[in-house]
Amino acid sequence: MAHLTSIHDLSDDEIVALLDRAAAIEKDPKSVRHLLDGKVVCAAFFEPSTRTRLSFESAAQRLGASVIGFSDPATTSSSKGETLEDTVRMLNAYSDLIVMRHPKEGAARRAAAVSTVPVVNAGDGPGEHPTQTILDLYTMRKERGAIAGLTVGLVGDLRYGRTVHSLVPALQRLGAKAVAVAAPGLELPKPLAGDVAAMDLEEAARSCDVLYVTRVQKERFADAAEYEKVKGAFVVNADLLGRTKSRAIVMHPLPRVDEVSADVDGLPAAKYFEQARNGIPVRMAVLATLLETRPRADRSLSPTGSQ
Ligand code: NCD
Repeated sequence: MAHLTSIHDLSDDEIVALLDRAAAIEKDPKSVRHLLDGKVVCAAFFEPSTRTRLSFESAAQRLGASVIGFSDPATTSSSKGETLEDTVRMLNAYSDLIVMRHPKEGAARRAAAVSTVPVVNAGDGPGEHPTQTILDLYTMRKERGAIAGLTVGLVGDLRYGRTVHSLVPALQRLGAKAVAVAAPGLELPKPLAGDVAAMDLEEAARSCDVLYVTRVQKERFADAAEYEKVKGAFVVNADLLGRTKSRAIVMHPLPRVDEVSADVDGLPAAKYFEQARNGIPVRMAVLATLLETRPRADRSLSPTGSQ
């Protein structure tokens, strides 16, 4: 794997190898403390983030790498009209790996096409978010013992929620079953919808091993009135879980708005904060795997940015 722009950049074996490596790192973080000494990771965030950016930065530093980057594109030359490609060519000269979040779908792939260093997609608009998927799978495996055989209920905004777009194919490839509890009008996009049956929330709470709840992605709506109509379509609360005798663990990529009530937080089913914590060993595994298998990138400032 030269880049990680989509979950499809990884074979099934590579996904499992990342999960195993993350588990080994979580067990013995000291063993990798100097693995990436001298490397520079660039966090290029053109869109808001808390967990993804900070967990990548923390992961890089825990491997000995240093971090540069920006989290407010208004302070960069993209606000002067610089193309994404030109920005990436410059970042190639300053860093050994780029973690990028961008509002446009396909941005990470465009970046990878011109980049001489690995590009990791940390979210491209409504497109994908592959490292979130690795940490979601890691959490499911840790909490449930295995991924194969699980039934995972995907709740909320399945149309714009990029974490779901990476998660669905990964679950299917690893032998789990995904079912959809989509808010009205926010169903899975066509190519993904094929093998995913629809279910109502009560039934999903009753029958699923995992409830994977997502926020309605307000920032993707062209029309604010449309958002107002569907926000709050589903709420997972303690009453629902009790009433349905749910055995499911509750996951959420976070941030949540009101789709998982605070009264779930204290229940043993609540795994979303643990899930966010798992971002550290998982992102350490991703960075280590991408950086140690690659020869040092060309650091010249050649006009094409190529080697
Ligand atoms: C998600 C994202 O940015 O896609 N957050 C995250 O990375 N944990 C989910 C969201 O914003 O709703």
